[in-house]
This record gives sequence, structure tokens and C-alpha cells, in this order.
Amino acid sequence: MTVDTVLENAKLYLRGRIVEAGLAIDGGRITKIAKTPNLPEGSEKIDVEGRLILPGLIDVHVHLRDQGLSYKEDFYTGTAAAANGGITLVMDMPNNEPTTMSLNSLRERMRIAEGRILVNTAFYSAFPKNVGEIGKIITEGGAVAFKLYMVRRIGGVDPTDREALNEAFRETARFGVSVAIHAEDIKMIEAGVEAMRNLGRNDPEAYLEVHTPEAEVKAIREVARLTEKTKAKVHICHLSSSAGVEAVSEMKSRGLPVTCEVTPHHLLLTSEYAKRLGGLALMDPPLRSEGDVKGLWRALHRGVIDIVASDHAPHTLEEKSGSSIWDVKTGIPGLETTLPLLLTEVYRGRLTLQSLVRLTSERPAMVFGITGRGRISEGGYADLVVVDMKRRFKIDSSSFLSKAKFSPFDGWEVRGKPVKTFVNGRLVMDDGEIVAKPGVGVIIRRMGGLG
Ligand code: DOR
Ligand code: ZN
Ligand code: ZN
Repeated sequence: MTVDTVLENAKLYLRGRIVEAGLAIDGGRITKIAKTPNLPEGSEKIDVEGRLILPGLIDVHVHLRDQGLSYKEDFYTGTAAAANGGITLVMDMPNNEPTTMSLNSLRERMRIAEGRILVNTAFYSAFPKNVGEIGKIITEGGAVAFKLYMVRRIGGVDPTDREALNEAFRETARFGVSVAIHAEDIKMIEAGVEAMRNLGRNDPEAYLEVHTPEAEVKAIREVARLTEKTKAKVHICHLSSSAGVEAVSEMKSRGLPVTCEVTPHHLLLTSEYAKRLGGLALMDPPLRSEGDVKGLWRALHRGVIDIVASDHAPHTLEEKSGSSIWDVKTGIPGLETTLPLLLTEVYRGRLTLQSLVRLTSERPAMVFGITGRGRISEGGYADLVVVDMKRRFKIDSSSFLSKAKFSPFDGWEVRGKPVKTFVNGRLVMDDGEIVAKPGVGVIIRRMGGLG
């Protein structure tokens, strides 16, 4: 029998070990893993020349934009950037124009995405106005999770309305899907911004002084109360501080159903970058102190951190360079830097390859109930990235496939490059070029039913 594609001469990452072997792909799935001579014939045969093959990354925190914000990024450019970064599945955030917050808005977004995406794409929804619609958004719409911004009102539920939050959380608990949370206390942040404006402060430091670790912790404690009451599964996004991580660790030791994520920028940059680069290194939550960075790494090594995600948040250069910090749009692109930055940490010995795969593929699939992906196995989907561990290069945002051509990592020398990305068995990125037609990515829907 001839299969679609055979990848030979590889080092495969299989359940924590690196094995010299190859694999056969047919109908989008891995049909056989074996030493090269024992593989079946393939219509296409690719010799990966001894390079490492990892499961494609699952990035659970991506703002693909499109629709009313397509000038910042669209489904094609965003998923091209993902493929270029070795990411084979992205989870799209709901703060769009229009906000993804109903069955209709979710379906419309999926309709637009279909046929334009180069990697698999799953969707978050914000809470609807009527929490009774939550079940439908999951079972009929196929949202894989909800997103709650506690720092501003996005969607149908006011983050200061504890009763409404209780109801919404209770509803998600019934369906077993996670609520991902941007944890910053809205009252502390709004009061802080007001005070700074009155002082005439509009510098990057003012932003950092308002968006404090205390605001992060206060919101996490509120989430702890909510999940204790409702048993809803919660996922804390982009933890940025030692205190924040401690608050999550405490929740975990109390047995609450919580998971959490950190971004590469919070692991690798301090607030010095925000001070030096201004808007270009401004994101929310912002960069923190050396002590916080150390705290995040300690937590990662202790196993408190479940996931590393990019929080890819593209904006135009104009939006990143307002004269007042309060006018600057927060967020940076991350799809094309995450894997090289993490591989560099593996090279330096600060991260094991096992942890990298666990944090960027295995745990993301588990936490968000994505089946058949996140590891290399016979029967699983062929979502794969071929990595050249020896390749050194300088990060250069001008060559990003994302529309957002800036990065606080510009000029960083990294080691380890994704050189081929396969999505559903199809070669999508080859040495920095997109070689597949849009539509090779599929929309990943939550499997229906109570969970
Ligand atoms: O920095 C951020 N950018 N933080 C957010 O919460 C939103 C995001 C965006 O959508 O740009
Ligand atoms: Zn956020
Ligand atoms: Zn975000």
C-alpha cells in the first residue's frame, strides 16, 4: 500500500524520548512510525536529514483579528505566521470587531476563517449577554473555551458583577469547558489610570505603576472564590508576577480546577525593556522585575505552569507609537518567536526538551480537550514541526509573515529554527516559505455534550 507522504531519516520526539526513525502519513494522520527501511512506500518522500521532529505547537493564546480589525492581522497572515513559527494549532481570542460572544458571531467568524487558514484554528468566545446561551455556544457553535477579561468589559458579562459571573461560571462547569482569564482587577486599574492622568503622567513607567502584581493577585483571588463556588475549570492567562504565580499555586494546592500559562516575553524580558523601547515593548500585563522573571522560572521548574503561549497581539506601528502611553495599543506579535526563543533556552540548559513539548503541545491539548493532537503517535493527526537545532539566526521582525513587523526580541541571536511545518499531513511551511494553499488548516470544534 502506498501512503501519501513518508518522512524519513528523522529524530522523532516520542513520549519523552528521541528515537531515530521516520513516519508515514496517510489521510492527514500518522499511520506508521518505524525505522526508515520499514516504512511503506509514499507518493511523496521527504528526507529530513537527521533533523528533530516535534509535535506541532498548540498556541492557546492568539489574537488573529480579521473582520473589523483585519488591518492589524487576518486569518491568512496570522496562520501563516503560526506555520512559520512551527505552530500547527492556534486558539483565537474573542476581543474582535465584532466581539465573539454569541452563537451567531462565533459562526460568522468561523465562516470567514474557513478556507483562509493555514493551521488548525479553535475559537474562544466571550460570555454572551444571556448566560443561557453558553451551552449553545459550546455544543452548537463549537467554542473550545470562554475568555473573561477582568480588566475591562468585553462581552456580555460585567467583570464587577459577581452574581452574573457566578451564573456564567456555573454554566461552563456543566459543560466542562475552561474559562480562560485575563486576571487584573478592573477597579484597581481604572483608579490607577485616573490618578496617573490627573498627575499628567503618560510615560511607560506610569503604565507599569498602574498595572501592578497586586492587581493580578486580586483578580486571581476573585477567580478562586468563583471556582470554589461553581467548580468551573479556570485557566489563568499570561501570569506575569511571582505573587500571581503564588496565588495560582495556592489554588492548585487547595485542589481547585485551575491551570495557567506564561508567555515567552514574561519569561525572558524585564521592565527595563518597556522603559527602553516604550510602546514596542508594551503589553498587558506588562513586563516585570528581575525578581518576577525568576519567580516565573521557578514556578515553571516546579511544574506549576501548565502552558507557554504567545499572546500574539498584533497592532500597526502607528498604534504602538502614540505620544501618550495611554494611547498606545498593548500587545506584541509572538507566533514567529516563541519556538526559536524556547529552543534557545533548551540549548542553554534552562529548559528541557521534555518540558518544552509538555508546555507547548501536550498540556495545551489536554487542558482544552483537543483530541488526536499534541503528541506524535500512530493514529494521531500529522501536525508536526521539523526543527533544525543547529541553525543560529537573528530575530528580524521585518521578515515576519505576520502583519505586525516589530518585536522587542529584534536582533536577539537564537539557536533552533522550525524549518518545515506539517498541518494535517500537508507541508505548509518550508524554510520560511508558505507552500500550501489556505484552507489546509481546519476549524477545531469542541465535541458536543456535557463534560
Ligand atoms: O496586551 C494585550 N493585548 N493585552 C490584552 O489583554 C489584549 C491584547 C490585544 O488584544 O491586543
Ligand atoms: Zn490578556
Ligand atoms: Zn491576549
